[in-house]
Amino acid sequence: MAAMSLVLLLTLCITSILSAPLKRNSYNYIQPLANGDAQFDLGNRSYIANVVNPKAVLDLSSSTLPIGSSVPVTVISTTESLITQDLLQSVVASYLQGDDVFSEDFLAAVLVSSAATNATVDASALAYLNSYEGQLFVSGSSPASFQGSAPPSGPYLATVKVGLIELASVYLLYADSYRDFLYGAYDSNDGNGTFTSVPAYLARYWNPMIPVPSRIYSWADDRPLAGERVAVKDLYDIKGLQTSGGSQAWAYVTPLADGTAPSVQKLIDLGAVIVGKYKLAQFASGADPWQWQDEHYPFNPRGDGWLTCSASSSGGGCSIAAYEWLDYAIGSDTGSSMRRPAAVSGVYGQRPSQGLMTLERVMPLGGATDTAGVFCRDPYKWIRFSKAWYTPDTYQSTNLTGLSPLVVPDSQAYPKRILYPVEYLPLNNSAAEVVLQEFISNMSSLFNMTVEKFNFTATVQNATDARVSNLTYLTSGPLGVINAWTQWDVVAKPLITKWKELFDGRFPPIDPARRPGWVKFNETLNNAATYQTALQAKNVAVEWYEQNLQFSTAESCSESVMLYDIGPGGKPSFREQNLNESPAASYLAIKPPTAKITGANICPIYGCADFTIPIGQVPYFSNVTYHEEMVPVTINMVVKRGCDFVLLNMIEKMADAGILKTVKTGRTPF
Ligand SMILES: *[C@@H]1O[C@H](CO)[C@@H](O)[C@H](O)[C@H]1NC(C)=O
Ligand SMILES: *[C@@H]1O[C@H](CO)[C@@H](O)[C@H](O)[C@H]1NC(C)=O
Ligand SMILES: *[C@@H]1O[C@H](CO)[C@@H](O)[C@H](O)[C@H]1NC(C)=O
Ligand SMILES: *[C@@H]1O[C@H](CO)[C@@H](O)[C@H](O)[C@H]1NC(C)=O
Ligand SMILES: *[C@@H]1O[C@H](CO)[C@@H](O)[C@H](O)[C@H]1NC(C)=O
Ligand SMILES: *[C@@H]1O[C@H](CO)[C@@H](O)[C@H](O)[C@H]1NC(C)=O
Ligand SMILES: *[C@@H]1O[C@H](CO)[C@@H](O)[C@H](O)[C@H]1NC(C)=O
Ligand SMILES: *[C@@H]1O[C@H](CO)[C@@H](O)[C@H](O)[C@H]1NC(C)=O
Ligand SMILES: *[C@@H]1O[C@H](CO)[C@@H](O)[C@H](O)[C@H]1NC(C)=O
Ligand SMILES: *[C@@H]1O[C@H](CO)[C@@H](O)[C@H](O)[C@H]1NC(C)=O
Ligand SMILES: *[C@@H]1O[C@H](CO)[C@@H](O)[C@H](O)[C@H]1NC(C)=O
Ligand SMILES: *[C@@H]1O[C@H](CO)[C@@H](O)[C@H](O)[C@H]1NC(C)=O
Repeated sequence: MAAMSLVLLLTLCITSILSAPLKRNSYNYIQPLANGDAQFDLGNRSYIANVVNPKAVLDLSSSTLPIGSSVPVTVISTTESLITQDLLQSVVASYLQGDDVFSEDFLAAVLVSSAATNATVDASALAYLNSYEGQLFVSGSSPASFQGSAPPSGPYLATVKVGLIELASVYLLYADSYRDFLYGAYDSNDGNGTFTSVPAYLARYWNPMIPVPSRIYSWADDRPLAGERVAVKDLYDIKGLQTSGGSQAWAYVTPLADGTAPSVQKLIDLGAVIVGKYKLAQFASGADPWQWQDEHYPFNPRGDGWLTCSASSSGGGCSIAAYEWLDYAIGSDTGSSMRRPAAVSGVYGQRPSQGLMTLERVMPLGGATDTAGVFCRDPYKWIRFSKAWYTPDTYQSTNLTGLSPLVVPDSQAYPKRILYPVEYLPLNNSAAEVVLQEFISNMSSLFNMTVEKFNFTATVQNATDARVSNLTYLTSGPLGVINAWTQWDVVAKPLITKWKELFDGRFPPIDPARRPGWVKFNETLNNAATYQTALQAKNVAVEWYEQNLQFSTAESCSESVMLYDIGPGGKPSFREQNLNESPAASYLAIKPPTAKITGANICPIYGCADFTIPIGQVPYFSNVTYHEEMVPVTINMVVKRGCDFVLLNMIEKMADAGILKTVKTGRTPF
């Protein structure tokens, strides 16, 4: 029995002739979905209702509605005893203002549950509701009660059964018009944590449909991420959903996930809502857009709409740049896969310190270089998510990272120096460098930091220990083995073996970014033993870095913050290869002429935290739209491993000071 002492269901029904036009669109049932759930339209908006596992069941001895009928309903919880027009109007206004899923179309019926013992609905309230559609048909004022718990306030689809009414959660279907997702998904509410992929295709769009639940459902939920909508890179397992890693061949030989990655489960436990799986470069490679064969390359809303989304968390950065209805996208970074997509979409995104998040049940690339990050438009929300997600209960074990235990202070022990590496900066586009210089001057004055130009390459090469001074060796040797072995062992070899068995010795159909490497994979060079040796070699380099280059002092978690650019330096980089040949455009992943390694490779070697931060935008003339467009300008901020929260606190202070801002969705971030 629910705590509610009184529940009133008011059902408004159309009479045969209406004098005034309807204030709301009427319910239009479209089809039962393959999984038994319902799809319906209200006006030009399409919804899914989870009728298989309804959210709540209301006992109702008598109803004037026909058995089996369905009606959109708005649930309102209140402590008031007198339900008036003013009360309902202000509730409806707050729903309309705070939620994109609710609409007045759900006022076909209203379910008021009041905690007051003597609640009544007055005439003004009835008249108000009546105004939404013809004449009041029935008003049930007999007390009713929920089986189990009362549902959260918000829009539902009610289905009338004998002696009861079922309330199904509703999901507004958004068209993924930038085609950044593989598919939409929602919690099946089966009590077992199983998710369902959206079994609907709307012929009026070409796009996957993404189901988004009402935000109102979470208004009374005080968990840190309650109601936050999260897209997930399709290499994290979610129970009931297919994990593809961007490969149909992999999906073919892999059953639906029978469990959820602990990193994703943690988000669900924190109140987040998973809305779907987004596109990635196949097997988390760094493939350029024109190398994608299995999936169609996602679109970037910025600039002319023809800019790259980079790789591998491509659909994540671009979807956050695209959709107001999406709050976060989680992805992974082995070599650049969070940081560069964030750069080209002009959003916040990080590679956290090595080991900050478990990657159990996540398709691996390099076991000891993979990391989990999150994209967001709003610095405050990004910080809130990161601090809730990266807690010690889900750190990786040190025998997995091969590094010393993580120490992650949440303090104001800020860096004293801003390091400006001369072989990685200035930004390639001089207009973008102006944006960067203003950012640096604002940051240094806010934190009283000095700005120091230094040569990263020379500093490392100057190390006396030969095991740490050779950057070429560190990237091609230890990092090469770490980045190759885990995926070979866990993904490539099983896939190749299985495909051979199934298809008369054939090699699986995969994208060119991986095919040659897998065909000639050498297990003499890359194996479990060389992997362990590589971990030790990497650890020597990390220990050196944390004592000599970015180190802790009594006053600073990381004595310096190092800046560099992981993106195209304020130039546009395009999804269409030839467009990048122009000097006004740029390819990605360019190693600067005097550097030994790309800036992207620094933290995969040294385990440090590397955040991509949007700081501005600059114009370019587009050879796609033949119009002036804007390209985002971002900067990467690097601190010693473990100083993630201190860097987040710095970012919060910079947001408070107006130096950093929430970016917009669409063509321009600012
Ligand atoms: C959908 O209908 C609403 C009015 O109900 C209208 O404002 C909106 O422009 C319509 N959208 C589209 C895409 O037709
Ligand atoms: C309900 O009871 C409370 C307290 O007894 C009283 O103040 C209130 O006026 C009553 N409301 C109605 C609508 O009768
Ligand atoms: C939930 O899981 C249990 C144990 O795996 C199973 O017996 C039960 O049928 C499942 N329930 C649903 C609704 O799938
Ligand atoms: C790490 O070490 C713990 C205890 O020493 C052990 O139980 C665990 O299996 C090890 N994990 C790996 C990945 O080696
Ligand atoms: C940085 O140092 C390296 C190694 O000494 C040198 O080759 C390179 O030219 C330097 N780069 C710049 C921009 O000074
Ligand atoms: C700023 O830092 C310098 C050292 O770099 C120090 O001498 C000075 O006192 C600091 N100023 C403030 C206001 O903290
Ligand atoms: C190299 O090391 C020497 C000796 O410690 C030092 O004087 C010099 O400044 C260092 N150079 C660089 C580029 O770090
Ligand atoms: C650095 O390592 C690379 C690759 O292992 C090797 O070819 C090169 O000779 C080394 N350079 C030095 C200066 O030792
Ligand atoms: C694999 O690498 C080893 C060691 O470098 C080499 O001897 C061997 O020829 C390689 N095997 C193949 C098939 O290339
Ligand atoms: C557009 O094309 C013109 C003519 O080929 C070229 O000069 C210009 O650099 C191109 N612009 C961009 C942004 O690629
Ligand atoms: C700057 O852009 C030019 C033209 O695209 C390119 O050749 C050069 O490699 C870029 N430099 C850096 C450091 O990215
Ligand atoms: C940043 O610094 C510039 C001058 O370099 C100044 O005009 C601007 O107001 C500063 N912005 C903020 C938000 O402090």
